[in-house]
Order: sequence, then structure tokens, then C-alpha cells
Amino acid sequence: MTIMEPSQTIKLFSGESIPIEQHKVRVVQKLFLVPIEERLKAMEEAGFNSFLLSTRHVFLDMLTDSGCNAMSDKQVAATLMSDDAYGGSQSFERMQEAVADVFGKKYLLPVHQGRAAEHIISQAYVKPGDIVPMNYHFTTTKAHIELPGGQVLELYTPEAVKVKSSCPFKGNMDLKRLREAIEQNGVEHTPFVRMEASTNLIGGQPFSMENLRGVRAICKEYGIPLVLDASLIGENAYMIKQREEEYRNVPIKYILLEMCDQADIVYFSSRKVSSARGGGIATNNPDHFDRMKNLVILFEGFLTYGGMSVREVEAIAVGLRETQDETYISQSPEFIKYLVETLDAAGVPMITPPGGLGAHVYATDFIPHVPQTEYPAGALVAAFYIVSGVRGMERGTISSVRNPDGTDLLADLELMRLAVPRRVFTLSQIKYVADRLIWLHKNRELIGGLRFREEPKLLRFFLGKLEPTSDWPQKLVAQFRKDFGDSL
Ligand code: F0G
Repeated sequence: MTIMEPSQTIKLFSGESIPIEQHKVRVVQKLFLVPIEERLKAMEEAGFNSFLLSTRHVFLDMLTDSGCNAMSDKQVAATLMSDDAYGGSQSFERMQEAVADVFGKKYLLPVHQGRAAEHIISQAYVKPGDIVPMNYHFTTTKAHIELPGGQVLELYTPEAVKVKSSCPFKGNMDLKRLREAIEQNGVEHTPFVRMEASTNLIGGQPFSMENLRGVRAICKEYGIPLVLDASLIGENAYMIKQREEEYRNVPIKYILLEMCDQADIVYFSSRKVSSARGGGIATNNPDHFDRMKNLVILFEGFLTYGGMSVREVEAIAVGLRETQDETYISQSPEFIKYLVETLDAAGVPMITPPGGLGAHVYATDFIPHVPQTEYPAGALVAAFYIVSGVRGMERGTISSVRNPDGTDLLADLELMRLAVPRRVFTLSQIKYVADRLIWLHKNRELIGGLRFREEPKLLRFFLGKLEPTSDWPQKLVAQFRKDFGDSL
């Protein structure tokens, strides 16, 4: 029998298809949905910056899928079997075996999280004047490549930054531009090429296996290593299965192995890919391993723990194997698809097609009356939290920097990201998110802009504080009360 529908989706008698949880909830954490007036106060105290909210005031935390996925019973059980040892821990051996089975790489360098892997790789390979071509940058990646004097070169296709698209693989790299870039910069100034699975900053969009194979072929031709950021590889593999004809009936396990087989170095944030906290760098080439190992000891910890707790190492080993299970790995993308399609059908401007990681709302079209210099994405995140208790993340100009002349370096896209951590939310919670966002869209005229009140020089999106440019938040609260009475 050919399974036409993803295993996570089920058809109801009514004809509607819904994503259905293929796990049961056995440990729960109480949530608090505080009244809207308290939410407004909490947002004011957080300086209209969702990073600075306490989870005491957050109902559904959709800030990120990093480090807050639900662990499986088997992961939790494994943490109790961990082997505390500075050197030669058996826990690490189990992680090594899992990496070999799931990613097909036999040498593993452990690190404390994804950006630590980026630090090590960049310190080992990047020198001043180097260019690193990639499908798209991630914030921490860019910073680490620039630290030793390198530069990021993004070679995405025009579809990547189109808000509404039916392109199944917006994460693809432009192969023609890759070849031109190598020719122009020279092999000696191209230390590696980087591909990011489920490309984060353009909306968790996947690349195709065909494209990855194409990148691989060019890298091989010029003798340049290919580095794969596998932090969101499970979702990319799932979307390859869903969207690339050739892989329709191929088990996820083999798709993962084929993806990693294209790369010389695979690195990952285990805060994402294996629903624990940690990371790693894996390769089959002992020269790459040798080039990076001393840096790991210096910056992370000894080669058999890399700054991670052995309990996390055990949880990672189990979590990595669970990435091969389609019923696990499909949960988050199927919930995202449901959310994006519900909102899109209601006229809310969404990034399409749905990707991995979360649903992305296009703030520019949501509140076109708020100029980019008044941070529409940040304003939308603040407004949405106030009316729902749902915490999203700003992915726009606040997350950018200032030009030397003091003006904002305006972002390519103004987005509100609503992350869907793995196995955390139920469908009724997702329906609540859609409902409140549709209400906000109907009342979008009420949302105004933001300006900085305290702006640190570095990492302003994490630590900066803002304020509304008018009393629009109060007007939003008044309208909410009018429509919802004394409901929360
Ligand atoms: N690569 C990708 C694609 C990521 O999404 C992240 C983190 C990292 C590397 C860095 O990993 O956080 O373990 O150091 N993304 C998080 C997010 C922060 O919220 O999207 P890390």
C-alpha cells in the first residue's frame, strides 16, 4: 500500500484533515493565562521585547524550538543511565554510535550547543579575506565567520525571499552563482561551503536533495569541503519526503544518511535536532577531526563531553535515533502546516509554503501603516502577546544592526516567528493561536509602532528595551474587552 498522507495527518468523518498527535502526554507543566491587563503590564516591563518576558506571564511559548522540545520517555530514562566520567564516558560512546547510525559519520567532536560548533569550525578554517558561500546565513553563524575576518556570501534563489510562493524548496542554493563565486574569490579564499537544513531565517524552508547533490558536485570539483548545518535536518528530510518525488517512498532514515553523505562536516545544535541540549561536529575525515580537536578541548571541554552534562549526552543519543522515526519528526511540520494554512485561508499574510521550525507572519503586510523604521515585526510580536499571551520572536529590523551613520540597517523581511517546538503543544492550543491572530488581523489598524528606549550597542534584539510610539496598546486592550467581555 502506498501511504499518500503523512502519518501525522488523519482524515475525519467530516472530511477535514487534521494533524494528530502520535504520542500521549504523561508529564505536564501548568500554564498560566493571565488577564490581558496583566499581559500589557508584563510587556511594558519587558520593554516591548519578548525575550525579556518571564514565562510566568507567558501562556504559549513560541519564542523558539531551541532547548524546549518535549523529551520522550526513552530520553528521560536514558538520562538516568549516564556515565559520569571526564574521559572515556560510555555516555559519549552511545552518542558516537547514534551519530554514526543516523548521520553516517564516525568521528564526533562534542560541543555545548550549535553556535559552539560554528565557533570551532570558523576558528579552524576561516582566515581574514575568506568568503563562505551559503544558502542563507543564521545569526550566530555569520557572527562566528566574521570573528576571524571572514565574510558570508548568500547564494539563495529569488524564490527564497518571496513571501508567498509555491516553491517547495526555497532553501536551495543557486548553483550557477556558487560556481561564479568560487571562480571570483578563488579556492584559496573559499574555506568551505555551508548548507543549512530547513533554512531558519527565511522561514524554516528546506533545500532539495537534488540541489544538495548539485552543491556537493561543485564542491568536489574544486576540492572545497561542504559543511552541513543539521540543526533542523529532521524537518528538511521530512519535507524532502513530502515534496521530492524521488523520495516519496524512501524511509526518513535513508534520506538523513544520504543528506549527510553529501557533506564533509556535519554540525548540529542538539537543542533542536535531538530535543535535548548540546551539540556536535561530525565527519568521516580524520584530518578535519584533527584540525578541530584541540580547539574543542580549549573552548568546550574534553573530547568525550565537550561542555555537556552526561545526562544530556544520553538524551541526545536517544533523541538522534528518534529523528529517524517519521511519526516523531513529522509532528512539528504538520502542526506548522495546519497553522499556516488556517491563517492563510483567513487572509493573514503568512510565509508560504509552510516550513519547519515555526509559522512566520509577514508583518509588513499585516500592518502596512507602520513604517519599517518603527519596527513592524517587533510591534506585531508585542501586540500579539498582549492579546493572546502567546510569545513569538521578532525577526526583522530590531534583530538587525545600525549603519555607520546611525540609521537602521533595514531587514530583508519583517517577520513574526511563532515557533512550534516538537511534541509540546496540542491542536486546541494551535487553534487558539490561529483564532487570536485572526482577531488581531481584523483589528490591525489599532497596532502602532515602537521606538528604542534603551539600545545596547551589541545584541540589541536580546537586551534592548522599546516603547510604543503612541497609546496604541491601551486601545488594543479596550477593543479586546469589547469583543471578548471578561474572557481571558
Ligand atoms: N544553526 C541553526 C540553523 C539554528 O537555528 C541555530 C539556533 C544555531 C545554528 C545555533 O544553535 O542555539 O544551539 O547555539 N537557533 C535558535 C533559534 C537560537 O531560536 O532559532 P544554538
